[in-house]
Amino acid sequence: VAETVEIRVDGRARQVASDVTLAAALLSLGQGTLRRSVRGEARGPVCGMGICFECRVVVDGVANRRACLERVREGMDVVTGS
Ligand code: FES
Repeated sequence: VAETVEIRVDGRARQVASDVTLAAALLSLGQGTLRRSVRGEARGPVCGMGICFECRVVVDGVANRRACLERVREGMDVVTGS
């Protein structure tokens, strides 16, 4: 059984695997849209290795964090959709 940590996603407490990236954790929750383009189109992880910048979210109040490069940690506060 994988260990889990609790993170907050858009104000909602969620349990996710402890040994994954934030992008993987969000996808495991069914959250594929992490941001919106300037025209309002849904965007989500594409490359998974820090190149495309399509996975940007707010982490602990810091904007433009790439979810594919962040490891989940207990208490992480994540805001998507900006
Ligand atoms: S998925 Fe491409 S930078 Fe994160």
